[in-house]
Amino acid sequence: PVLVVDFGAQYAQLIARRVREARVYSEIVPHSMPVAEMLAKDPAAIILSGGPSSVYEPGAPTLDAGLFAHDVPVFGICYGFQAMAQALGGTVAHTGSREYGRTLLSVEGGALLRELPADLPVWMSHGDSVAVAPDGFTVTASTPGAPVAAFEDLASKRAGVQFHPEVAHTEQGQEMLKRFLYEIAGIEPTWTPGNIIEDQVAHIRSVVGDKQVLCALSGGVDSAVAAALVQRAIGDQLTCVFVDHGLLRSGEAEQVEKDYVAATGVRLVVKNVEDQFLGHLAGVTDPEQKRKIIGREFIRTFEAAARELDAERHIEFLVQGTLYPDVVESGGGTGTANIKSHHNVGGLPDDLQFSLIEPLRTLFKDEVRSIGTALGLPDEIVQRQPFPGPGLGIRIIGAVDRERLDILRQADLIAREELTAAGLDRSVWQFPVVLLADVRSVGVQGDGRTYGHPVVLRPVSSEDAMTADWSRLPYDLIAKISNRITNEVREINRVVLDVTSKPPGTIEWE
Ligand code: XMP
Repeated sequence: PVLVVDFGAQYAQLIARRVREARVYSEIVPHSMPVAEMLAKDPAAIILSGGPSSVYEPGAPTLDAGLFAHDVPVFGICYGFQAMAQALGGTVAHTGSREYGRTLLSVEGGALLRELPADLPVWMSHGDSVAVAPDGFTVTASTPGAPVAAFEDLASKRAGVQFHPEVAHTEQGQEMLKRFLYEIAGIEPTWTPGNIIEDQVAHIRSVVGDKQVLCALSGGVDSAVAAALVQRAIGDQLTCVFVDHGLLRSGEAEQVEKDYVAATGVRLVVKNVEDQFLGHLAGVTDPEQKRKIIGREFIRTFEAAARELDAERHIEFLVQGTLYPDVVESGGGTGTANIKSHHNVGGLPDDLQFSLIEPLRTLFKDEVRSIGTALGLPDEIVQRQPFPGPGLGIRIIGAVDRERLDILRQADLIAREELTAAGLDRSVWQFPVVLLADVRSVGVQGDGRTYGHPVVLRPVSSEDAMTADWSRLPYDLIAKISNRITNEVREINRVVLDVTSKPPGTIEWE
């Protein structure tokens, strides 16, 4: 792998993603990992990420200079660039002058920057600068605030840049990363969906042998792709369970039952437990309580299904659709505040007595999608927008009941249909429609007064759901959705648009 050493900035994941986009496998490791342990992973190259603003800062993470006693190619970015310069005998100046944001880079050539525009917009975020490059390195670019903004030593396969090539604001940033990986480090771009599938299939086969495996399908992309991958590996030894709790969107249960099975031929057990869920949710308005009830009932249902199946075929393994960001984030263990208790099929209890198979554990969402496509899953499944585990239960503000769910399902379907018709499915990350079930407002329809409920449209754009912005959908589209909902959905007489970013708002309303 290419190791991305995380110096504590939010950029390490982004770097790892960009390296994968260049079709090279990458892994994030903490800066505290001893060099010997990094080398034990037989890295094809090591990338030092950005980090705190100054290498002089008390408690600033240090770089073990022993790394450079080995001949592994190294690329330093921002803080990693400075740490590298310092470790190799260059000088980092505590200038106090800062550069933030878009800066013009004066390019002077070099393997990394050759033939790129002489004035290149790049994204900067630094206080200190490298003043003198280490021996053997050629300086290939500068900016007003950074006399040494890029350097390289092709003989030792080492290079570094003061700016952030991984962010979209750095034009040609991806090109630079590719040049480091392919040309300077000499790595072949072999990380393709086909290879990932091959590796995983072989791995799953060797782990599972002739044992039986169970997978909870949620209707979401991750569990669908995880199951398809496992099924590709072990076929008939896999059984999927789908819990239909009545909080799904229109057509969703059918999609799993028909499209998914048609595409994969997987053995599917569907548990219809709407009454059970709605019974427990009756009268509950508190969002956290709703989440807890839904999570608990989900587990109960799943456990019951697992027990029934186990009696007939002894189950040893459970598939979970855990993704790489979850792994990195839980490894980070920063104890961030619990904003919402997320309920996932991933949140199944440990005492389920199964061993886990997590075939997506090393993958990012976009990789999961390409693998799904390569496995032959239809776009309707692979390109779906994320949908929360607690479903429409947390999109009804107020108590959840069948009638309210029906109203919301109709409105939600209209919003989805119109978004698709406008060809904008892929330009929004998610498009929740939220029913304000305890709010009423006065309206007029025909000659009559109405006293109905509002729905909120909440289209957002995002890269990873950690932050988001409200999507600037065309007014005509919003108008059409609004007209259709108020005309076609009895009980709804007002449509409003949520124009809050995240933060401060979350994507879902509960
Ligand atoms: P928020 O509302 O926290 O949502 O900004 C971030 C992303 O997570 C989804 N979400 C959930 N997904 N179980 C899930 O599987 C949950 O309990 C849950 N709550 C929110 C939300 O749809 C968005 O994509």
